[in-house]
Amino acid sequence: MSARDRVGVHFTTKYEASPTWRVRIPSRLNLIGEHTDYNDGFVLPFAIDREMWIALRARDDQKVHIRSESFVDEVTFDLTSIKKEAGWGEYVKGVAWALVATGRKLRGFDAFLASDIPMGAGMSSSAAVCIGSAVALAVASGIFLEARELATLSQRAENEWVGVESGIMDPLVMAGGHHGSAQLIDCRDLTIEDIPVPSDTVAAVLDTGTRRGHVSSAYNERRSECLEAARQFGVASLRDLDRETLEARCVGVPDVIYRRARHVVTENDRTLRAAAALRNGDAATLGQLMVKSHESLRDDYEVSSRPLDAMVTAATTTPGCFGARMMGGGFGGVAVALVGRADAEGFKNEVAETYAEVTGLTAHVHLAEAVDGVIALPGTHN
Ligand code: GLA
Repeated sequence: MSARDRVGVHFTTKYEASPTWRVRIPSRLNLIGEHTDYNDGFVLPFAIDREMWIALRARDDQKVHIRSESFVDEVTFDLTSIKKEAGWGEYVKGVAWALVATGRKLRGFDAFLASDIPMGAGMSSSAAVCIGSAVALAVASGIFLEARELATLSQRAENEWVGVESGIMDPLVMAGGHHGSAQLIDCRDLTIEDIPVPSDTVAAVLDTGTRRGHVSSAYNERRSECLEAARQFGVASLRDLDRETLEARCVGVPDVIYRRARHVVTENDRTLRAAAALRNGDAATLGQLMVKSHESLRDDYEVSSRPLDAMVTAATTTPGCFGARMMGGGFGGVAVALVGRADAEGFKNEVAETYAEVTGLTAHVHLAEAVDGVIALPGTHN
């Protein structure tokens, strides 16, 4: 059973009633533009058909009750006195806290959460919990939140309540995605351009089966190196640095800081070129840019891992593949490949076999479709 079906069953068993709303939250993939969002740069992600669902009914008071099939503990709190604790519920509470801070009048809810988005894999399950909780609170309270506000509330919850320095890419594409299109996002002014994904190509999410702990400390370290790089190169943010200035001002800049900056500068450039290629339906150019992105993430930004490198090599040497690269924060989790649709099923089997031969690990491959962002449906809707 998919999360969509499980969530209703779980809700009814727990609360002995039918839900009045079901919220569908997509996962996302990112074609290109990695570690650029927190540098005010460009990203090219889309929302995909790996989903989290939250079934809920509004309450008359301001209490929130939410259970998840993945965790034993039920999360309960009161919107009038939200306190920090530990655990997965902090994502829900953080969003409630950020929404309360906007001055809106909120009502609580009873809810159940079920998810087919793997946790800790670079598929943004935590941003999905935030976006889903924000929409759950909104529908329970009879208010509407547009995509940008949903995304900034979610990011604020993760950054300021949970203490994870995530960027705007994941929540924004999960909130604002459109069926059949990738979104070119300018992370400085949050403008979004929809660019259709050619129907004869498909993006594959390649799960290496590896997860790495303490990723957030390495992620935060990269973020501070970027701030340091911007300071040393004399720009407000690395978005404002171009290749010429990078080379002209690099004397005396430590090698690590220079390479972090070079990744961000070249990745922004690749992302804009990839968007142009996508507009032209030019999968070959887009694929080549993805490969260059992987090399830069591996060598300059140093966020890849052996299994991720092995997966990218397995993918790019399989027929039908235009290009591949590691995806998300890095160090483990998933890669993404662009594949000709006619070759996709064969690619799926072959890439998993090659990866298993080389690493001894089991890969999971998902051929992903671009779907709409978060949506709340009446509980009875099927
Ligand atoms: C994580 C963060 C995103 C982004 C990526 C790297 O997934 O949540 O905001 O910074 O890493 O591109």
